[in-house]
Amino acid sequence: MSLPCASIEVSRRLLAWYGREGRDLPWRHTRDPYRIWLSEIMLQQTTVAAVIPYYERFLKRFPTVAALAAASLDDVLTLWAGLGYYSRARNLHLAARQVIAELGGVFPDSLDALAALPGIGRSTAGAILSIAFDTPAPILDGNVRRVLVRLFAWQEDPRGSRAEKQLWTWAELLTSMERPHDYAQAIMDLGATICTPREPACDRCPLQDLCQAFGQGLTAALPVARKRQKLPVRRQVALVVSAPGGLLLRQRPPEGFLGGLWEFPTADLPEGVAAVQAAGRLRDDLGVHGALEARADVRHAYSHFKLELAVFRVAAGAVDRIAEGRAYRWWSARELERLPLHGAHRKVCSTLVDDG
Ligand code: ADE
Ligand code: SF4
Repeated sequence: MSLPCASIEVSRRLLAWYGREGRDLPWRHTRDPYRIWLSEIMLQQTTVAAVIPYYERFLKRFPTVAALAAASLDDVLTLWAGLGYYSRARNLHLAARQVIAELGGVFPDSLDALAALPGIGRSTAGAILSIAFDTPAPILDGNVRRVLVRLFAWQEDPRGSRAEKQLWTWAELLTSMERPHDYAQAIMDLGATICTPREPACDRCPLQDLCQAFGQGLTAALPVARKRQKLPVRRQVALVVSAPGGLLLRQRPPEGFLGGLWEFPTADLPEGVAAVQAAGRLRDDLGVHGALEARADVRHAYSHFKLELAVFRVAAGAVDRIAEGRAYRWWSARELERLPLHGAHRKVCSTLVDDG
């Protein structure tokens, strides 16, 4: 399998398989780089099934890169709400503005120029170049990584720098020079539908007799699992303040972690302090009066820490002092459904549903 002739056989098999079994997906009916770019950003760390409705809604609202560039970040985040990894939406918006302001509204058709746009890494640049421009460029997203690790039976850590170098070399070796558009979709589809993380469907795989993991009985063992590292736990209290004007939320600053997203007022819970005490201090800081009512705790895992959120509710009377704060606003329950809340605070909402 290290011989170039075998690599041609891999892409030949993949292309034939894709012709028979490839999925009919909305972004496969276009070569518009804007649409291809949008699909690739949405598909980062997100399944096809989750992406499709967002992709269609997004394009209805922003049919061109110019329309996206002219939108406010809030509108973009609102359409993104629920899809997760919100830095993608912020970068999408930034990149659209850059394409309009610096590139005359025309998407670049080179790897370097694409990768210079916010949110486009080397693999996404390769996917856009292959799919929109039919120009050969290697792709190494999560699905492709897994296929290559198994095909070549890579038995080391697949995330290390040695793996990175080797996997890119293999990705480059296999990329079809004749049909880059189809090849890119084919190898991503194989990873998504056949060579899946658990229990790959090797009996239906067009690469089975070329696959070293299959030949060596290693398909279940590869890629080798990441060593579980213990993530630090961050404890916070969140306050759901309800008043005649609705529920009180604040918007996070546009820069930084979860930037531009909305959340209930939150404060850190220091070691040794009771949650109810921290919640009381937060309530007083907000200038709200009313008894605290404890709700179910919320847990949420991020890539670099775990969040434990103690949730309290306060039914406040008329409040006006808060309205002075820049980032704070009252929202009705209906408006809240459409507001871009980050994931942990979306869960806070679900602790309230039994309240009617
Ligand atoms: N994952 C990433 N890009 C994709 C695409 N174009 N089609 C299907 N799955 C994908
Ligand atoms: Fe993946 Fe199995 Fe195909 Fe190998 S034979 S590429 S492990 S699906």
